[in-house]
Amino acid sequence: MNCKKFIDEKIKEIRKIVGRRKVISVLSGGVDSSTVTILGYRAIGSQLKTISVDNGLMRENEPENIVKTFKKLGIKVKVVNAKKEFFKSLRHKVDPEEKRKAITAVFYGDVFKKIIKESKIKFLLQGTILTDIKEAVAGIKRQHNVLAQVGINPEKEYGYQVVEPLSKLRKDEVRKVAKLLGLPKTIFQGIPFPGPALAARIIGEVTPEKVEIVRKATSIIEKELKNSGAFQYFPVLMEDKATGMRNNKREFGNIIIIRCVESVDARVAVPTRVPWKILEKITKKIINEIPKITRVCYDITPKPPATIEYI
Ligand code: XMP
Repeated sequence: MNCKKFIDEKIKEIRKIVGRRKVISVLSGGVDSSTVTILGYRAIGSQLKTISVDNGLMRENEPENIVKTFKKLGIKVKVVNAKKEFFKSLRHKVDPEEKRKAITAVFYGDVFKKIIKESKIKFLLQGTILTDIKEAVAGIKRQHNVLAQVGINPEKEYGYQVVEPLSKLRKDEVRKVAKLLGLPKTIFQGIPFPGPALAARIIGEVTPEKVEIVRKATSIIEKELKNSGAFQYFPVLMEDKATGMRNNKREFGNIIIIRCVESVDARVAVPTRVPWKILEKITKKIINEIPKITRVCYDITPKPPATIEYI
């Protein structure tokens, strides 16, 4: 792919679609939303308003880091606190698709709709990529950001149009575009992070307490595997429990699965052969630093048949 040509074409396309009207982009800090934001900024400058929704499901210090990173690029990001709304919508939901549906509904139909209403902006610039669309359309997984392709008309349902300049690109291509657009290495080489954020890594009901456990485990795993060169790595909190021991006492505790995979574009993936020593170190840290976790397992299932995420 000719990235320079792609960027030039998309800049023209965005300008043509939106004209002089204002546009919003929503940053999650991942490579897709970061790329689309900087692309939008190059296309329409201050006509683009950028927000980041703190849904309570982000990784440690993520909202602050997003603001800092984009400030350096000259882009001001406003953080919108919507933790309450997200946790309320996830209450008592255990089915993976129901959880994804709830996240889509609260984001697009509630939080973002309110922002749009208040700001009177009619365009959402979003970083949906081809893999998101293909999997959602194939019925494998409801992606939080796939709307029109699964029969949701954003204009009719929510009152705004969605502009998706990356919808024909795979992850590896987005990374190349991100690099050429001048995004920092931490972003263009960053591991993918799903829209439903840490909620995608909790089996069963998502509660603030469970998110806190996964958040801590995510920090440990991301630190220990950052030089692994793997495509993606993260923990998942199981709903089942298992017997363990702590301070010579029986403890019926929680189980964390470590997932680490090699992939190019997330279509297929194989488990990384993480050195045993690193797995032992991660396990020790998780057990010692996170109360209630008594067991850590490593997932060796490729995609297919498993997907990368657990919900
Ligand atoms: P799966 O789990 O389907 O994931 O093998 C493929 C890739 O997509 C990411 N992913 C998502 N990204 N919104 C996103 O923006 C989502 O709802 C979503 N679900 C999965 C996943 O992390 C992996 O890299």
